[in-house]
Amino acid sequence: MCVKILGTGRSMPDKCLTNDDIAKIVDTSDEWIKSRVGIETRHIAENETTTSMAADAAKKALIRAKVNAEDIELIIVASVTGDNAVPATACQVQDIIGATNAMAFDINSACAGFDVALNTVIAYFGAGIYKTALIIGAETLSGIVDWEDRSTCVLFGDGAGAAVVQYSEDGLADFIQGADGGRGAALNKPNAPVKNPFKKGTDKETGLYMDGQAVFKFAVKTVPQCIEELLKKNNLEKDDIKYYIIHQANKRIIQSVAKRMCESEDKFPSNVSKYGNTSGASIPILLDEMNENKMLNPGDKIILCGFGGGLSWGATLIKW
Ligand code: UT7
Repeated sequence: MCVKILGTGRSMPDKCLTNDDIAKIVDTSDEWIKSRVGIETRHIAENETTTSMAADAAKKALIRAKVNAEDIELIIVASVTGDNAVPATACQVQDIIGATNAMAFDINSACAGFDVALNTVIAYFGAGIYKTALIIGAETLSGIVDWEDRSTCVLFGDGAGAAVVQYSEDGLADFIQGADGGRGAALNKPNAPVKNPFKKGTDKETGLYMDGQAVFKFAVKTVPQCIEELLKKNNLEKDDIKYYIIHQANKRIIQSVAKRMCESEDKFPSNVSKYGNTSGASIPILLDEMNENKMLNPGDKIILCGFGGGLSWGATLIKW
C-alpha cells in the first residue's frame, strides 16, 4: 500500500467575516472567540457553492500535479454539505473538470472525511484496482449552522481543498479509522423534511447542533490515541514524524493534543485562525498551504488525522 501526493489545491470563498462582523449577528465578542477557539476570520460562501469550490480546488491540484483530468480513475468528495442529495458532488466535479474516465462518489464522514477518502483510495490502490485518484474535501457549513446559536455559528467556515494521489512503489501508506455511532447525537444536523403525505408531524428544519464539551473531550482523547496506535503499528517513533496535520477544529484542541502527546506545537501546523472549522475541507486546505509554502520535502513522513461528526475518526500515515 504505497501512495504519493502529486499535487494539491484549495478554493476559498471571496467573502471573509471577522469576529467583529459575527458579533453584529449574535451576542459574542472577538475576545471570547479568539481565547476559546483561536479563530479570527472565516470565509463564507455568497456566490460559491460546495461544487464550485470543489471543482476549483481540483483544477488547481491537477495543474500542480501535472496530471490530465482524463487520467483520473477515481474521484472522492468528502462533504456533509453537498449542494444536492443526488447527483453526488464528485459526479458534478467529474463533469466540470472533464475527468471522463473516473468513477466518482461522495463520502459522509464529517470532519474525518478527507482522511476516510484518502484511506479509501489507499485501499483501492492496495487492491490493484486504481492507480490515480483525486480526493477533495469541500464544505459550505454556513448553509447548515444555526445563525442564532452563538455557541456554534462562530466556529465554522466554508472552503475546499483537493489532492491528486497516485500509486507509487516508493510511497508509504497506512491508516487506522473508526466510528462510534452511539455518540453521534453530540454533533448532528437533521436533513430538511419535505411535505410527505404518509408521515404525520410537523418537523421543522433545524441547524447544526453540537455538544461542544463532549466533542472537545472526544477529540483530545481520540486523536493522540489513534496517532500513537498508527505509529506503533508501523514501528515508528514520534521523532520520525515531521508534521501532524490534524483537523482544524479549534486552537485549544490542537494545543491539548500536542500537550497530551508530549510533542511540540510546531509539529502541528495550523490555519484555524484564518478559516475557522471547515470540517472535511480543513486538512486538504492546510496541506495545500503547507505545500505552497514549501514546508514539505520528499521523504518527510506525515500523519493526517481527522475527527468529528459520527462520531468518527481516521489517521493516515504517508510519505511526502
Ligand atoms: O469539528 C468538530 C469540532 N468541534 C469543536 O471544535 C468543538 C469543541 N468544543 C469547544 O471547543 C468548546 O466546547 C466550545 C468553544 C464550543 C465552547 O467552549 P466552552 O468552554 O465549552 O463553553 P461553554 O459551552 O461551556 O459555554 C461557556 C459560556 C456560556 O455562558 P454561561 O452559561 O457561562 O454564562 C455560553 O453561553 O460561554 C457562553 N458562550 C459564548 N459567549 C460568547 C458560548 N458561545 C459563546 C460565544 N460568545 N460565541
